[in-house]
Amino acid sequence: MLRLGVNIDHVATIRNARGTPWPDPLRAARIAEQAGADGITAHLREDRRHISDADIDALMANLTRPLNFEMAATMEMQAIALRHRPHAVCIVPEKREERTTEGGLDVAGNDNALAGYIAPLREAGCRVSLFIGHEPAQIRAAARIGAAVVELHTGAYCDLDTEGRHAERDVELDALRRGAELADSLGLEVHAGHGLTYDTVAPIAAIPQIRELNIGHFLISESVFLGLEGAIREMRARMDAARA
Ligand code: PXP
Repeated sequence: MLRLGVNIDHVATIRNARGTPWPDPLRAARIAEQAGADGITAHLREDRRHISDADIDALMANLTRPLNFEMAATMEMQAIALRHRPHAVCIVPEKREERTTEGGLDVAGNDNALAGYIAPLREAGCRVSLFIGHEPAQIRAAARIGAAVVELHTGAYCDLDTEGRHAERDVELDALRRGAELADSLGLEVHAGHGLTYDTVAPIAAIPQIRELNIGHFLISESVFLGLEGAIREMRARMDAARA
């Protein structure tokens, strides 16, 4: 079965635009659960530009589905994760000036430091996921340092599709397929996400080694027109059709 993790960060982005209590990310998460999300993803950024510490407290206290807690590999975030012990911790690279998470982690270049960083999270019972590109060296390094999961970055594939660069998109898609195969063969659970839309989800959902997709910005955008429940149900239907 292909799971859907709904990323609710941008519900908080809209809330923070006005400094009001609404829209409430926890309310969005509850609707997502009812609409068929298998998990909820939230990224507590160092600059707290969307999700806040109080949001994480509320999600941990109230969710019925597992929380995938996205964070940078900093000591502050490690302490927060160890306090909450969410089901999963997804480690992402983070730059203050970026609009979104632009690339994958350099696991191969930082394997000793990352191995030490994730050890207490693993001991606390969190499934550690590393957000990486499809390069074999990164995938092998993730397996070597004991990550349970790799999440493959689909952003470049989605951007090439949006820009109409279809030949390059297909090369990227092939690389994602090979990356998923390699990761699976090394015993890693394979997830994917970033930038996925109704138009781009099917080829990714069809990759048999992928167990979970994490999707946020497009779903929150589409909920303006369809409502959050409708947007999620439509995405689920497309994922399921592609997987079948
Ligand atoms: N997966 C990871 C690791 C991410 O950092 C993000 C963006 O926060 C997503 C998935 C979801 O990306 P999008 O919001 O573009 O669907």
